[in-house]
Amino acid sequence: MFDFSPDPGLDPAERHRQLCSAADALTDSESDAIANMANIAALMWEFLPELNWAGFYRVIDDELVLGPFVGRPACIRIPLGQGVCGAAAASGDTQLVEDVHAFPGHIACDAASRSELVVPIKRDGRVLAVIDLDSPSPARFTAEDARGIERLAELLSGRI
Ligand code: SME
Repeated sequence: MFDFSPDPGLDPAERHRQLCSAADALTDSESDAIANMANIAALMWEFLPELNWAGFYRVIDDELVLGPFVGRPACIRIPLGQGVCGAAAASGDTQLVEDVHAFPGHIACDAASRSELVVPIKRDGRVLAVIDLDSPSPARFTAEDARGIERLAELLSGRI
């Protein structure tokens, strides 16, 4: 059994440190990409408050394909360049969106979503996948969340 339940009183920086350390421990000796993404989706859900979706899209040919996640069923295929996830995959840059309704082309998989953070996972300069976090709270994600999830993406680069 794995029990990584974070203390509810943790400050955001410590929360991200513990999330990364739990992710390292869980994926360190496992080479299966799907198993690792599934466990990391569950960990992000446990560690980060106010989420309604946490998971992965993988880059396959010229589109993003839904990967392991926690949350409501979601759009399966997203063309590169479309929506927040497609923008992150096409540019290779983190997308921190305070108000999804103000993001041109945002794809609403869950009408409850109000803000979103998408971080690309790269290997040798190529985007392999993106980590997608959605929240029902406006402006839920901060620059600190972006840095924390970027560290997680670096860790996962060789493990998915
Ligand atoms: N909102 C995303 C689509 C994926 S769902 O949020 C799970 C986007 O605009 O790319």
